[in-house]
Amino acid sequence: MKWYLHKILYRLAHLIMGVLIRRIDVPVPELLTGVGCLKKLPALLKKSNVNRVLIVTDKGISDLGLSSRLITALESIEIFVTVFDGVQANPTIQNIEDGLKIYLRSRCEGIVAFGGGSPMDCAKLIGARVGNRERSALKMRGGFKIPKKLPALHAVPTTAGTGSECTLAAVVTDPENREKFSVASHHLVPLSATLDPELMISLPPHITAHTGMDALTHAVEAYIGKIGTSFTDSQAEKAVEIIFTDLEAVFKNGDDPNLRANMAMASYSAGLAFTRALVGYVHAIAHNLGGLYGVPHGKANAIVLPYILEFSRDACQEKLARLAVVGKLGDGSEPKSELSVRFIEKVKAMNTNMEIPSRVAELKEEDIPLIAKRALKEGNPGYPVPKLMSQRDCQTILRKLLP
Ligand SMILES: NC(=O)c1ccc[n+]([C@@H]2O[C@H](COP(=O)([O-])OP(=O)(O)OC[C@H]3O[C@@H](n4cnc5c(N)ncnc54)[C@H](O)[C@@H]3O)[C@@H](O)[C@H]2O)c1
Ligand SMILES: [Fe+2]
Repeated sequence: MKWYLHKILYRLAHLIMGVLIRRIDVPVPELLTGVGCLKKLPALLKKSNVNRVLIVTDKGISDLGLSSRLITALESIEIFVTVFDGVQANPTIQNIEDGLKIYLRSRCEGIVAFGGGSPMDCAKLIGARVGNRERSALKMRGGFKIPKKLPALHAVPTTAGTGSECTLAAVVTDPENREKFSVASHHLVPLSATLDPELMISLPPHITAHTGMDALTHAVEAYIGKIGTSFTDSQAEKAVEIIFTDLEAVFKNGDDPNLRANMAMASYSAGLAFTRALVGYVHAIAHNLGGLYGVPHGKANAIVLPYILEFSRDACQEKLARLAVVGKLGDGSEPKSELSVRFIEKVKAMNTNMEIPSRVAELKEEDIPLIAKRALKEGNPGYPVPKLMSQRDCQTILRKLLP
């Protein structure tokens, strides 16, 4: 079929998608914020009738002892705790099955997802498997393939980036095909989100930078996409404003709890935006760089974002100009084209200032056709992007990322 016919069909799909998504009542988690708010979580668990809980986390976090205060507090009100800390970065199907076994063996009644996007997404799918035992994680791939509810799930993010604490998505790696895939369902939105900045003080600068740029990418892709609403636009603007003001500052001064709290809120707001307005080609490409080479998700997004914005700029100039004003790069009196270029230059400068490269060291020329094919399978028509991309366009962009 000719490319222009494909484009018509994709745009039709986006129209339908926009109508359908607006009809879905995406739940919003109960929000705990402020320094030390983790203290309030045990009472929430009691309220959801959980007396035996599985904490899903990763080895790095448990070695830091980040969850130990929570464990003591839970045990003090007679909630029995089991810890599963076997989640890998870019979590795998096996991680989910391992966690499921432990959940069942310990007769747990609920889950605390404690960590970055990797433990949170793994916890979501452990919960989905508990509620839907006959369905494998692979069978849940795509949208709305989780028929039954999960046990009580509470999220405690320790990075400020993915927004997984409020999204209906979980991303998993299938190591067999070295491919990441998404699962989306309103059942995956946690009951509560605890944004305690104290838990983020230990984040090293490079992870602070990568995860913060993931949040920026969520906000920007949701904003320039075709199905945003006034709610998602306002959440995305809030996120961009905070990230432009505070991300480089917190990269330099990670001990500041106010900056950490702001970034946690930016990530949450960006999550609220993109879980309703979706993401775009930056994510489609980043997922493949993660699946194929294990590139950290936020880092991959940060590198790819300026290239996709340059490709899409003529189709979303006005929105980028508005974000530039939100980010205090102008007062709105400047020509839109100038403001939109300023926005992209700012993203590049943030990357440079936070030591994020402009190319992907792991990328191999011979993998480019496969990456482009998989990215466009995910993005067309999956993401309501401002400017549609063909296989050839995608390969041209990927070639610019070669080391
Ligand atoms: N569900 C969603 O809506 C959604 C959205 C975007 C991304 N994701 C997924 O999330 C995953 C990435 O999550 P991430 O970027 O948060 O990274 P991550 O969870 O993989 O964590 C990265 C590293 O940071 C460490 N870490 C986490 N918190 C720490 C802390 N407070 N102090 C010190 N070290 C800490 C971890 O131990 C790990 O080594 C990817 O798989 C991505 O695809 C999901
Ligand atoms: Fe992301």
